[in-house]
Amino acid sequence: MVDSTLPLLLRGYAWLPDRRRRSGGAPVRTRLLGRRVIALHGPAAVRYFYDERHIHRHDALPQPVIDTLFGRGAVHTLDGERHRQRKALFNTLLKEPARVRDLAERVEREAERARQEWARSDRVVLFDAMAAVLTRAVHAWAGVPLPEGAVPRTARDLVAMVDGFAAVGPRHLAARRARGRQEKRLAALVEKAREHSGDGVEETGRTVFRTIAAHREADGALLAPHTAAVEVLNVLRPTVAITWFAVFAAHALHRHPGHRAALTGEDATAYAVAFAQEVRRFYPFAPFVGGLAAERLRWAGHTIRPGTLVLLDLYGLDHDPDVWPDPYRFDPSRFLNGPPVADALVPQGGGPADGHRCPGEDVTVTVVATVARFLARLPYDVVEQDLRIPLRRVPTSPRSGFVISGVGAEA
Ligand code: HEM
Repeated sequence: MVDSTLPLLLRGYAWLPDRRRRSGGAPVRTRLLGRRVIALHGPAAVRYFYDERHIHRHDALPQPVIDTLFGRGAVHTLDGERHRQRKALFNTLLKEPARVRDLAERVEREAERARQEWARSDRVVLFDAMAAVLTRAVHAWAGVPLPEGAVPRTARDLVAMVDGFAAVGPRHLAARRARGRQEKRLAALVEKAREHSGDGVEETGRTVFRTIAAHREADGALLAPHTAAVEVLNVLRPTVAITWFAVFAAHALHRHPGHRAALTGEDATAYAVAFAQEVRRFYPFAPFVGGLAAERLRWAGHTIRPGTLVLLDLYGLDHDPDVWPDPYRFDPSRFLNGPPVADALVPQGGGPADGHRCPGEDVTVTVVATVARFLARLPYDVVEQDLRIPLRRVPTSPRSGFVISGVGAEA
């Protein structure tokens, strides 16, 4: 079987949907980095994939992805009881509505503060500006100290880890170096917090940072400082990655200015949530997720040998015309009549909350909705620039970073 690593690197988001069209809808079989691969598609495949009797994560992710995006020993790489226990920590920290609201309010306050500075600048690169806003907000929310002078470097590092995970060459090296710096910074903070609180149990506090620093595994042991740093980063990094969706929200508002009125009028909160869901569905971010077949499997009449790398098509399902009528139309009204059909909207994976599903969906939807409303009431001009979103690049965004000018200091 021919290896598809190069076509994947060259075609990006279009690789898997194209291969699926060519296979007439049958699961795509190929090889990646020499490994046997099958790619599954559709809501039923989501349920099948997220059943941990079928798919294991240990040893599934290529080391270059772990060394940039997730970190060694991260929750993403665990299975069974160890995973369930670590995952419960994230679900507790990230799904409580009051905590999610608190983060969104901090994002809004930081954005309002930043806007005064934007108003004094000729041009603002929205991508970089939003990354700084989210970096400040998530550090304060998570209880991780960050001097103002360290904001630009930290924001660049958190962005670089996401930007470089699927790349080769300088982008990948930048991601590795960024991870190294951030793990070192956070591991030192974990050790310091533990020194000041004896064995680290009493002072759990309620912040993300203190809770992770004091977290104990099933055997009663604290996480090694490096692992704790990795897991703190697994909150900070993806929250800053919402920058990609923030810029996509600006892109959607630019292409469809009619949505501004609904985002600033009455019922704006419900509309903003629908708008955020459509941003997550419509724009490309995570192309697929992967794991290893735990044993010999049968899927829709196909046999999957143990150890096969099983991919679940995310981008393709979010644009499947059988699931989403007219999928390439940006239309928030799809989400105005209640939550999406289970296992159909999968920009951040799917399945049950105690599986590997992203625990940051509520945070993402709420923050994107907040940013969309902020942008909708912000007066600004979009300067002449290349706003195409290249599907070959993973992750992608307009090359220019979305440059705006003439930002108003008052609404
Ligand atoms: C897992 C996407 C935001 C924390 C995942 C997965 C995807 C994903 C595709 C993998 C699911 C799987 O392995 O099957 C995204 C995208 C986001 C986002 C596109 C938008 C920027 C967040 C946020 C947080 C977060 C805001 C935390 C504050 C996590 C964690 C996992 C995860 C801890 C690992 C879950 C596990 O393996 O059990 N995310 N995510 N994510 N995400 Fe997110």
